[in-house]
Amino acid sequence: MNHEVNEQGQLMIGQVSAKELADHYGTPLYVYDVEKIREKARAFVRTFHENDVPAQVAYASKAFSSVAILQVAHQEGLSLDVVSEGELHTALEAGFPVGKIHMHGNNKSVRELEMAVEHGIGCIVVDNFYEIELLSNILDDQDRDMDVLLRVTPGIEAHTHDYILTGQEDSKFGFDLTSGQAEEAFMKVEDHKRIRLLGLHCHIGSQIFETSGFEMATRKLFTTLKEWKDRFEYTADVLNLGGGFGIQYTKEDQPLDLDQYAYALIGEVKGLSEHYGYPMPEIWIEPGRAIVGEAGTTIYTIGSIKDIPDVRTYVSVDGGMTDNIRPALYQAKYEAALVDKMNESEEKEYSIAGKCCESGDMLIWDVALPKVEHGDRLAVFSTGAYGYAMANNYNRFQKAAVVFVENGLHQLVVRRESYQEMTRLDLSYEK
Ligand code: LLP
Repeated sequence: MNHEVNEQGQLMIGQVSAKELADHYGTPLYVYDVEKIREKARAFVRTFHENDVPAQVAYASKAFSSVAILQVAHQEGLSLDVVSEGELHTALEAGFPVGKIHMHGNNKSVRELEMAVEHGIGCIVVDNFYEIELLSNILDDQDRDMDVLLRVTPGIEAHTHDYILTGQEDSKFGFDLTSGQAEEAFMKVEDHKRIRLLGLHCHIGSQIFETSGFEMATRKLFTTLKEWKDRFEYTADVLNLGGGFGIQYTKEDQPLDLDQYAYALIGEVKGLSEHYGYPMPEIWIEPGRAIVGEAGTTIYTIGSIKDIPDVRTYVSVDGGMTDNIRPALYQAKYEAALVDKMNESEEKEYSIAGKCCESGDMLIWDVALPKVEHGDRLAVFSTGAYGYAMANNYNRFQKAAVVFVENGLHQLVVRRESYQEMTRLDLSYEK
């Protein structure tokens, strides 16, 4: 992975030294290089635009939702995917245009659906029969219309490199294509005069490094659309192929360039629409990780160092599974560097431990680093997606701050949580 390093051998992020950021804001600290976020967003948008394909690139805000990132997403012309009242609230606070917000969720509450309808969001991705019932009632009560997509499970599960084809899709999300569920849902929404069915949606998984899974899914959805056109004279305007575009966490990860994913989707959809004589639908995608993942770096300060001769050296940092639960939850792998010793040669392998009272709180096993000393600052790379988003207060650690850096300027965009804020919700027990 390529990192910017200055003449003093210091890690630079967006032309600011990581050490300076750590000194200024304290650690642990999430730092985003905003230019990288913009580049990723532009790569998707540009590819659709250059190929003259109407598209919406919706940022999946579950990867990292905060007012500032949603403002950047909007500046770059992205739409937005939200999955909860909280994510929708954040989008509204950020002033995100409501017409470009899409709502997901396998168990949307009445409140969430009401809020979506009241604000007139762009589209609801309908997931199940109960939701159709709730939404129908809300639209009737509020005397409003709503555009929807039906989420279907195409029976393709992506495991980064492999795809598993399952006849009967075993998933909590969406309508099954093979058992007739999707068709029943189609009938129900088509029946409701306030619901306008834009088309179909699927999401086959995350951290995908190849295009073949997306192509397979596109073919499955298209077959269904073609059938519905022949039988019901229904023509979809939109095909939403979800997110899941892979990023680089370590050298072993070799994702495609983002425009290659977009180009493959365009090719497949164009080919199928020509083959079936079907009007070319708009292509919608929902990247989360691919937009923010590689742009984020977490900076920690190193505290205790425990050397077990001939076994291992544990180096503990001032964060861990509270700011990045992915290693503990998914055995996710990361790379790291000492921010002030970027030009020094590696001395040996260290294992990076978090400070939670839990043996599983290990951020990285066996990473080669220059000689580590107390007080060194450690950068862990590619932490921009599902890091802050899944942060928690285990052991009552504060949620870390988030800083945006762009063109040599830095700005705090999420404050570090205070202990007063942490106990603000606690009430004393009056017996
Ligand atoms: N669209 C839908 C319907 C999704 O369920 C997801 C992710 C996305 C888009 C965005 O996927 P992305 O482009 O970010 O891969 N916490 C896990 C990831 C869970 C993803 C869930 N859905 C992690 O840290 O890896």
